[in-house]
Amino acid sequence: MGRGRLFCSLVGLVGLALMLPAAEAAEVVVYSSRIEQLIKPMFDAFTAASGIPVRYFTASEAELIERLKAEGANTPADLFMTVDAGNLWLAEQAGLLQGVASPVIARHIPAHLRAKDNAWVGLSVRARPIMYSSERVMPEELSTYEALGDPKWRGRLCLRTSRKVYTQSLVAAMLKALGEARTEAVLRAWMANEPRIFNSDTKMLEAIAAGQCDVTIANTYYLARLKAKDPDFPVAVFWPNQQDRGVHVNISGAGITRHAKHRQEALRLLEFLSGPEAQRLYADANYEYPANPAVKPHPLIAAWGTFKADTVDVAVFGELQAAAVKLLDRVGYR
Ligand SMILES: [Fe+2]
Repeated sequence: MGRGRLFCSLVGLVGLALMLPAAEAAEVVVYSSRIEQLIKPMFDAFTAASGIPVRYFTASEAELIERLKAEGANTPADLFMTVDAGNLWLAEQAGLLQGVASPVIARHIPAHLRAKDNAWVGLSVRARPIMYSSERVMPEELSTYEALGDPKWRGRLCLRTSRKVYTQSLVAAMLKALGEARTEAVLRAWMANEPRIFNSDTKMLEAIAAGQCDVTIANTYYLARLKAKDPDFPVAVFWPNQQDRGVHVNISGAGITRHAKHRQEALRLLEFLSGPEAQRLYADANYEYPANPAVKPHPLIAAWGTFKADTVDVAVFGELQAAAVKLLDRVGYR
C-alpha cells in the first residue's frame, strides 16, 4: 500500500498521471481452488512482508477456469492457484496464463516442478504412494504400483475414481514410463482384482481401517491428517517403484494470468510463495512436501522416511491426460 502511494505521487510529480489508469492500486487478486484456510496464512505473511494486499476468490478449478475464459481481458484475477499439474497445464493450454522470467523462482523450485517459462510454478509436492493396512499386510508383500494387479490383492484393493485428476495424472505418469500396452495391461490387472472405487482419499483410508480393503494408492497428506488425530490409525505408507522410476508425485501451484492487471505484484507474490517462509506454512498447514528443497517437511511426514520420487516433468500429466482418460474408459475403470 505504501509503495503504491509513493508510486502515484512520483507519477503526479512528473505529470504522467493522465497516461496511467487510475484504478491500478498495488494489490494482487487471486483465483484459488485451494480453500481459504490453506492460503490465507501465506497471503497474510506476504502482505506483512511487502505491504501489498491480497484479495482472493475460491471456487472449484473447473469454475475458475470457466470464469477466466468468460472474463477474458476483463478478468480481475492476477494469479490462478490450484492443485495438480494436469489442471495447471489445462489453464496454460487454454491461454489463460503468461510466462515470466524469475531468477528467484528458478533458485527456489526445481525445473521439473514448473512450466519451462514459469506459466505455472509448483508450490507444494504431494506424493501418491501405496498405503496398506498395518494389521493385515506386511510391507514385504508390496513392491510397485503395477504389482497391485497381482491376484493376491483380489477383493482387497480400494482405488480412487478415474474421474479424479489425481488418478488421471497417475495413469499419465504410467503411460510415460511404461507405454500404452503395458499400462493397459496393468490397469486391466487392477480391474480384475475387483477394486472398490471411492470418490475421496480419506474414505479409502477409512475403508482400510474398517477392514473393507487392505491396500490403496493415496496422497500422503490425507493419511497425515488422520494420523494427527489418531496416531494409532492402522494404515501405513509403502514407497513403491524404488528400483525403477520412483513414487508418483504431483504438485499444487499457481500461475500469473494472461491479463493480470498487477503483474509485478503477482510475480512478487509468486516469488514469495516459493520462498522459505511460505514453504514452511505449506508444510505445516497441509502436511504437503515443500516444493522448495531447502525447506524440510513436517515431522509427521518426515517420519515416513525419504524415498525416490518420479522426476518425470509434471507437464506430462497434462499432455497425456486425454490419453489416460481414454485408456481408463477402455479398461472399465469407473
Ligand atoms: Fe487432495
